[in-house]
Amino acid sequence: MGAPSGWVGYIVLGGLLVGFSWFLYCPGVPEWAGERFLLQIHSSGIRFANLMSLPAPYLTGFMINERDVFRWITEMFYFNYIPDNDVWVRVSDATFDGVPVKIFHPRAAQNDSPAIVFIHGGGWSVLSADSYSATTYYIAWKLNVVVVSIDYRLAPEHPYPAPFEDCLKATVHLLRKAVKYDIDPSRIAIAGDSAGGNLATAVALKLSKDETYSDLPHLKFQVLMYPVTQMLDFNTYSYTEFAHTGSLWRELMFSMVVNYLGFPELLDHSDQFEVTNHTSPRLKNSVFGSYVKHENLPEEFRVKGFKTVGENMGNENLAAKIEPMLTDPYFAPLMAPDLSKVPPVYMILAQNDPLRDDGLFYAKRLREAGVKTEIDFHKTMAHGFCLLTPASLLTFQGGKDAYDTLGGYVQKNL
Ligand SMILES: *[C@@H]1O[C@H](CO)[C@@H](O)[C@H](O)[C@H]1NC(C)=O
Repeated sequence: MGAPSGWVGYIVLGGLLVGFSWFLYCPGVPEWAGERFLLQIHSSGIRFANLMSLPAPYLTGFMINERDVFRWITEMFYFNYIPDNDVWVRVSDATFDGVPVKIFHPRAAQNDSPAIVFIHGGGWSVLSADSYSATTYYIAWKLNVVVVSIDYRLAPEHPYPAPFEDCLKATVHLLRKAVKYDIDPSRIAIAGDSAGGNLATAVALKLSKDETYSDLPHLKFQVLMYPVTQMLDFNTYSYTEFAHTGSLWRELMFSMVVNYLGFPELLDHSDQFEVTNHTSPRLKNSVFGSYVKHENLPEEFRVKGFKTVGENMGNENLAAKIEPMLTDPYFAPLMAPDLSKVPPVYMILAQNDPLRDDGLFYAKRLREAGVKTEIDFHKTMAHGFCLLTPASLLTFQGGKDAYDTLGGYVQKNL
């Protein structure tokens, strides 16, 4: 894929800024949202990328598909450039057991430095370790830890389990070979945002459950930033309240999920996902279904009389095709039968985020399983606020604050 770089990036970015200024007052950014203007720029940018991508196949005689254009524009929006001889952080590329990674090594770090494995978001289908460079650089520099950012393969070309397996392989390699990279193998944590949070916790779960890995040092903790934890219900309260706002809206989420499932053509059936018809009544009434019940939310998030739709409906054909994956804990970690052995969790959540309830449901199950779980909740922030951009004017202060608070936790626990 490779991000176009240098001035080409700035010219195109400038063009985009003009283009999507038209969208700036796009619907539904709530009054109480913090850094509103910035949120509108981010949301409009992603909507604009989405819109631009739609005619691409028709304009190019099907030489270029929508996905590539969407990837190209989002990648450019987060375009990064870090010089090889940066004074603060040494940035290098490596391959861990066949999986490409980017290593951010603070020059001030000791020989046996702690490290954070970082798994980027982008709905398993877009963005890359490169487009997250501003974020991973900032974490390495600010927290003085080595950050290993995994460039896993993307869906739908490489659907589940490929992205998960890449992340697992690279993490196992780091745990085995840490000393070679001047890292203390007993001080490694894992982190990820959005789809990356889903992958990070899936990896942590696998390492804690599977005998094959019992000889490896344990991960110290997991940092889960607004993770995707379930795909059973897209009518949780937060999914419905924030269905059309911000930089992640429900229809976009459907396209990401069907990509990860490996059935991008199912996007034509998004009306089924919208009314929770993609699961059977049997599944809805099973223990899996019980994990996504509104009553599981903490008191202050419960809304009286709220009912998710489709409780006794379902499209049996569609359900039969995808239910085995929807209940697979490495695909949807909230569905794990037993979470008691996973490392402690530090969760960063935003109020204005369809995935808010995914995080809260997961935190409840973790706590019930006896896993130490802390939540850093941001009342005025929206999905994606921790993804920093190279231009600080486009970076949410809330995101930087979240990393500062995380720094305290890391200092104590890593
Ligand atoms: C959902 O499934 C039910 C059958 O369980 C069906 O009657 C209904 O029309 C479906 N809804 C949509 C939007 O397809």
